[in-house]
Amino acid sequence: MAVIIAVANQKGGVGKSTTVVNFAACLGQKNKKVLCVDMDAQGNTTSSFGIKKKSVEVSTYEVLLGLRRIQDAVIKTEFKNVSLVPATSSLAAADIELIEVDNMQKRMKMQLLTIKKDYDYILLDCPPSLSLIPINALCACDTVLIPMTCEYFSMEGLSQLIESIRLVKQRHNPTIDVEGILFTMYDSRLNLTAQVVNEVKKYFPNKLFNTVIPRNVRISEAPSFGKPVIYYDKSSKGAEAYEAFTAEFLKRRKAAEKQNKAK
Ligand SMILES: Nc1ncnc2c1ncn2[C@@H]1O[C@H](COP(=O)(O)OP(=O)(O)OP(=O)(O)O)[C@@H](O)[C@H]1O
Ligand SMILES: [Mg+2]
Repeated sequence: MAVIIAVANQKGGVGKSTTVVNFAACLGQKNKKVLCVDMDAQGNTTSSFGIKKKSVEVSTYEVLLGLRRIQDAVIKTEFKNVSLVPATSSLAAADIELIEVDNMQKRMKMQLLTIKKDYDYILLDCPPSLSLIPINALCACDTVLIPMTCEYFSMEGLSQLIESIRLVKQRHNPTIDVEGILFTMYDSRLNLTAQVVNEVKKYFPNKLFNTVIPRNVRISEAPSFGKPVIYYDKSSKGAEAYEAFTAEFLKRRKAAEKQNKAK
């Protein structure tokens, strides 16, 4: 059964899509079967995997509105063990159309239940908002992975997101948990970086991943070649960082499983 992870932060441009694409590729190389679901009308995850939006026949839009089964939307990418439910600009209408359907917060959850058994991990790439689409992701997921940058406004964004997770937990998804916080576009030369890291550590001591993703030009170039960075330039600092993050994630998961078994 897959673990479903929503990659969320309502703040824009913090590395959500970049993390989904590169984390998925690294998990795939570790022989994990991964499904990415692009839940953003921008379709950045879709194009980062080299998939042309014009060629997409069934997308997250049809899946969310229940017009098609999720199985019909899945595309195998050219990267080992990684599949994708693509998004196109059609998804922009879904937020308004969802208001008129039953169980509007649980449409993605219902679809994922039918496919969960086929994967080890399902990664949901959320758009930069707290509208019905990301709420669908929060209702469907087991945990939330929060990419964040070390900027002044990041802390405000983080509190808002934690509050939304709390509300979703209360009303729709009692077992939701925070997987962890991942610092992206990290630059240790900036004073603000250390301040933000310390602040987050104070409030979420156990939730911070030790691995940080540095600002790296290879990471930002890779999408224009339609490739995750480990396929674009395996020896780059960016590729190494996403590999290290994946190793840390898998190690933490293993340790948590052991603990749960011992209980
Ligand atoms: N570690 C990094 N180093 C350099 N550039 C990066 C890094 N991570 C992300 N970027 C670049 O920063 C920009 C924003 O990243 P990305 O699209 O992943 O953020 P996002 O949170 O998904 O944005 P949105 O909220 O719009 O969906 C992109 O141009 C991406 O290539
Ligand atoms: Mg994005």
